[in-house]
Amino acid sequence: MEFPRSPRIPQVIHIVLLIFATILLQSRNVRGRHVDHLNYFEYGAITCRAHSASLTDFGGVGDGITSNSKVFQAAIDHLSQYESDGGSMLFVPPGKWLTGSFNITSHFTLYLHKDAVLLASQDENEWAVIDPLPSYGRGRDTEGGRYISLIFGTNLTDVVITGDNGTIDGQGASWWDKFHKGELQYTRPYLIEIMYSDNIQISNLTLVNSPSWNVHPVYSSNIIVQGLTIIAPVTSPNTDGINPDSCLNTRIEDCYIVSGDDCVAVKSGWDEYGIAFGMPTKQLVIRRLTCISPFSAVIALGSEMSGGIQDVRAEDILAINSESGVRIKTAIGRGGYVKDIYVRGMTMKTMKWAFWMTGDYGSHADNNYDPNALPVIQNINYRDMIAENVTMAARLEGISGDPFTGICISNVTIELAKQAKKVPWNCTNIEGISSGVVPLPCDQLPEHGSEYISACNFPTDSLPIDNLDVQICSYRRKYPLDSADKQLLTTMNNDELMGDQ
Ligand SMILES: *[C@@H]1O[C@H](CO)[C@@H](O)[C@H](O)[C@H]1NC(C)=O
Ligand SMILES: *[C@@H]1O[C@H](CO)[C@@H](O)[C@H](O)[C@H]1NC(C)=O
Ligand SMILES: *[C@@H]1O[C@H](CO)[C@@H](O)[C@H](O)[C@H]1NC(C)=O
Ligand SMILES: *[C@@H]1O[C@H](CO)[C@@H](O)[C@H](O)[C@H]1NC(C)=O
Ligand SMILES: *[C@@H]1O[C@H](CO)[C@@H](O)[C@H](O)[C@H]1NC(C)=O
Ligand SMILES: *[C@@H]1O[C@H](CO)[C@@H](O)[C@H](O)[C@H]1NC(C)=O
Ligand SMILES: *[C@@H]1O[C@H](CO)[C@@H](O)[C@H](O)[C@H]1NC(C)=O
Repeated sequence: MEFPRSPRIPQVIHIVLLIFATILLQSRNVRGRHVDHLNYFEYGAITCRAHSASLTDFGGVGDGITSNSKVFQAAIDHLSQYESDGGSMLFVPPGKWLTGSFNITSHFTLYLHKDAVLLASQDENEWAVIDPLPSYGRGRDTEGGRYISLIFGTNLTDVVITGDNGTIDGQGASWWDKFHKGELQYTRPYLIEIMYSDNIQISNLTLVNSPSWNVHPVYSSNIIVQGLTIIAPVTSPNTDGINPDSCLNTRIEDCYIVSGDDCVAVKSGWDEYGIAFGMPTKQLVIRRLTCISPFSAVIALGSEMSGGIQDVRAEDILAINSESGVRIKTAIGRGGYVKDIYVRGMTMKTMKWAFWMTGDYGSHADNNYDPNALPVIQNINYRDMIAENVTMAARLEGISGDPFTGICISNVTIELAKQAKKVPWNCTNIEGISSGVVPLPCDQLPEHGSEYISACNFPTDSLPIDNLDVQICSYRRKYPLDSADKQLLTTMNNDELMGDQ
């Protein structure tokens, strides 16, 4: 734009134009909500925030090369002053933000713009080493410590990690390689781990190529995991999707997961360490999950279940090309329990086993496990399911002298693959009933006839987590908007000064 060259008038016009543009921008935003997703937008969260800042306010560089670890930590440390003053939000704008691990704070929201990518650093020095989880006694990959997660929080309350489908890229390939070659010094990091915390939301993000597990809430309660897309090569090691671990009151919904390990793995500690810690995963809802996991389970319960797993309600699940639908994994020495499990409305396409229970999973933390610590597996209900192209309907192996009891399977039709096993059901050390199941189950699950078609229970009450609501919050960027604007204002001030001379 050309301005007249008179010394005073141009600045006046410039300022008026700027004010005009701002008003115009804001009014457009109010009408066309997502018109300008950098300066104003709305999003769903368990709590809205009074304060906000953008990563660029702290000198973030989104070039994919410059490390932003210190910038993230400085931004969050700064925003933590608002913990008891309405909370805060850190906005991550479009860009490739290379970063090592950083710690989040309470009453805090991390929001990733749809074109923002957090690129996890591959430099091990960017990852602090922290103690093993007390309920595991050691790291999963190595004895001793473990690399802290990319986004880590402990002893927090009210945390939200969300976006309009922004991406967290774990750049896991180098970690997988070290794992395969036995070159890891410590256990691999996860993408998100929140410990000892309450009121957590992780939603509307895409997570790719995690070094190991993706989302790990542990020793926590009141958790919503919603709208995640999680993608890792199906051959990548231990890239579990979502692992609620010793957590109370969790809701996982509307997630799409393709991974090299279990899509959802419910856990509660390992052998003698998990027994001593004694913290179960209870009151877990899983719904509208789509899973592709050719070498693992759609929903796994265990194998670390020594603190107990109880009251899991899963429904509306779509499984494609996965090894097993629901799998219980345990072993002598685990102790603990898996009980009151309810799954209904599952569609399975191309599976090795629709149902799988493994009583001799092994995989011990060390040799000090108690051989008398037998897990209790009881009241397991599967109903209203259709499966096609299945190699074997079920492989249900309890523990000799410690049978898995109260297994109920009803209204389930499993269409076997052309190359299916001759015996579709193989059951040992299990007890229960079935009704309306095709092909006819094993003798340990006697068919009770179609009048029992709804025999298997699915609770009708709701859980407290169903009452944790997401509300509409809005983010408005404070003026001046970004560094370009700041520069414009600086130039204007300089012009003004020069004009005064
Ligand atoms: C996630 O995104 C969907 C669709 O854009 C929206 O309906 C939902 O409220 C969002 N949920 C959360 C928790 O952010
Ligand atoms: C994050 O917290 C952990 C332990 O709680 C600590 O070891 C680590 O140094 C912290 N990271 C940063 C970047 O401050
Ligand atoms: C976090 O909470 C746990 C359990 O209450 C406690 O043992 C631990 O000391 C706390 N850690 C910090 C850093 O406050
Ligand atoms: C989020 O992004 C992923 C990866 O690009 C895509 O597959 C998915 O459909 C997106 N989700 C939504 C709700 O737009
Ligand atoms: C049996 O399961 C199907 C879904 O596979 C469902 O549509 C139907 O209502 C169920 N029947 C009964 C009697 O519950
Ligand atoms: C059935 O499963 C086999 C693998 O067991 C797969 O190769 C084949 O493509 C599947 N067929 C269909 C129709 O999905
Ligand atoms: C059934 O499973 C048992 C182990 O649980 C195994 O020894 C046996 O060979 C299996 N039988 C068939 C027919 O697959």
